[in-house]
Amino acid sequence: MVDQAHKLRQAISSIRTKESSNPSENQSESSNKAARVITVTSGKGGVGKTNITVNLAVALSKMGLKVIVIDADFGLANIDVLLGIIPEFTLLDVIKGEKSILEVLCDGPQNIKFISGGSGVEELVRLDKNQLEKFVENIGLLDKLVDIILIDTGAGLSESVMSFVMAADEILLVTTPEPTSIMDAYALIKMVANRDKSKNIRIIANRVETPGEAEDIINKLCIVSYNFLSIKLNSLGYVLRDDMVIRAVKMQQPFLLKYPRCQAAKQIEDISKKIAGIAEYKTQKEDFGIKGFINRLIKFKTHSS
Ligand SMILES: Nc1ncnc2c1ncn2[C@@H]1O[C@H](COP(=O)(O)OP(=O)(O)OP(=O)(O)O)[C@@H](O)[C@H]1O
Ligand SMILES: [Mg+2]
Repeated sequence: MVDQAHKLRQAISSIRTKESSNPSENQSESSNKAARVITVTSGKGGVGKTNITVNLAVALSKMGLKVIVIDADFGLANIDVLLGIIPEFTLLDVIKGEKSILEVLCDGPQNIKFISGGSGVEELVRLDKNQLEKFVENIGLLDKLVDIILIDTGAGLSESVMSFVMAADEILLVTTPEPTSIMDAYALIKMVANRDKSKNIRIIANRVETPGEAEDIINKLCIVSYNFLSIKLNSLGYVLRDDMVIRAVKMQQPFLLKYPRCQAAKQIEDISKKIAGIAEYKTQKEDFGIKGFINRLIKFKTHSS
């Protein structure tokens, strides 16, 4: 055990020395450094969450930020398929105490790291206090290593997805122009508003035909949510329907790297600039970062089970 802890510390310090050209260097030096935890979700399935997550990660990494993507869609392995990566281990191995968090990190394109969730969250609530503390300490290393953690969730309004949504510092809600997708997005907003109206929900309209169509959808969602649910939403913009996205998916590569000049890539870059420009959201010291996220996740799961 001592050996493992020593190895981890060494690994972290080597990563941190390599970081010298990183814009977040000053933050990394601080012992209070915490990663921003952003959950990407939707009401309806198949709206483009996984594509948006992976390509946003690539865009943010291109800007010099350190990014990890966690695949929390336990139904279907999404990100591995999109990236053509077969992870050897998952977060479940960390939860069981069999692997350290660094051992389950997979290398993705453009320096992004990727963690497969496995059926992790369900297992979390079964851990005793000691095991849980060990896990939180272990996953807490990510706060020191990265700037942004993007969590790709499955679709739908299940308790499992809701736990990721409610535990996140920030929520990216993806919708398409289809009425069913908008209705399901609204249903998700309602579930969030019923629990916590102060949650930070940012909308992305994906697969739209025109910028005007996106504006229309986002405005409607904002107005209805404010009037009926008293929750304020923000817009992060849109991604046009673009055949290059479909082509890149077939080639198992992020469209941002395969077709960097396509419209969808430009729009993802615009969105990533907005995300990077958002002043960090911080509550109390022990409440932010991945540690705060896991603590909230566990609380949510224990309350709802
Ligand atoms: N902007 C876009 N333009 C064209 N096609 C798109 C766009 N975004 C997504 N798609 C298509 O939609 C499909 C589904 O996208 P993706 O897998 O990212 O959705 P998802 O929301 O993660 O789905 P699930 O709910 O099953 O996890 C892609 O394979 C691609 O073909
Ligand atoms: Mg997906």
